[in-house]
Amino acid sequence: MSENTETNRAHWNEAASTYNNRFSKTIQQIIEEIQKRREWIGVDWVDDASSDGEESSPPKKAVRLLDYACGTGLVSRALAPYVTQCMGIDLSEGMVNEYNASVQNQGIPASEMRAVLGNLIDASDPNPAALSGPEFHDFDIAVVGLGFHHFDDPALAAQRLAERLKKGGVLMIVDFMPHGHFHGHDGHGHGGHGHEHPAQKTVMHMGFSEEEIKRIFEGADVGGGFDFVLLGKGVVFEDGEKGTKMERNVFMARGSKL
Ligand SMILES: C[S@@+](CC[C@H](N)C(=O)[O-])C[C@H]1O[C@@H](n2cnc3c(N)ncnc32)[C@H](O)[C@@H]1O
Repeated sequence: MSENTETNRAHWNEAASTYNNRFSKTIQQIIEEIQKRREWIGVDWVDDASSDGEESSPPKKAVRLLDYACGTGLVSRALAPYVTQCMGIDLSEGMVNEYNASVQNQGIPASEMRAVLGNLIDASDPNPAALSGPEFHDFDIAVVGLGFHHFDDPALAAQRLAERLKKGGVLMIVDFMPHGHFHGHDGHGHGGHGHEHPAQKTVMHMGFSEEEIKRIFEGADVGGGFDFVLLGKGVVFEDGEKGTKMERNVFMARGSKL
């Protein structure tokens, strides 16, 4: 495990139990932004009309989501209405536990939504045994929500995620535009006022340009129909516990596996 990976694991274990409460407004905003763009994402989603449980309904086709670096499950919650299965993977056991506790609290069966501990982007372990089963392959969509800037090697991450997609499957990244400097304080790695915020050391990349992301998608063979959009006028990361605010321009990028 790289030093950065270990730093991330330790930090997010610590932050896991308070993450949902601290960032509840921001989480809700990003969930809505993702849902608004579901046509743009371009997956053949489960038709809501066929999931009403009536006996005459045809069986639902399988639509499977890989929520990578899932944290407490923001992306899964956003897309759960349109897929048949959400699989979260995260390297923090604290986050995995939070994700699974919330699934259980909502009475959702683990066969439909669950998270497991793992790291697909360990350079020394390209194919982790624990993530080798069929349930970890052939996804219709893989998403990384606000995780890309924490990875050692985002290009390697895109490749490893692309390998887990079926042909035509979609990779989607939600992350920050370049921001150049740490400013404000938040749970996403940005200190301020001359002292280091605890999350700052988990940040490996100060955002991404459209060109960089496009290159990463194309390099991973998921550049089909590549598109990149900014979320409105930006997103305010408001820490409801600490009372601090930080603004970021957030993008969503999508491309299909060729
Ligand atoms: C800012 S949180 C985002 C969580 C969630 N996706 C969201 O949007 O709320 C970043 C997450 O990335 C996870 N993470 C960082 N590096 C990772 C890696 N190499 N593999 C898997 N998860 C990783 C952390 O444990 C943490 O849960």
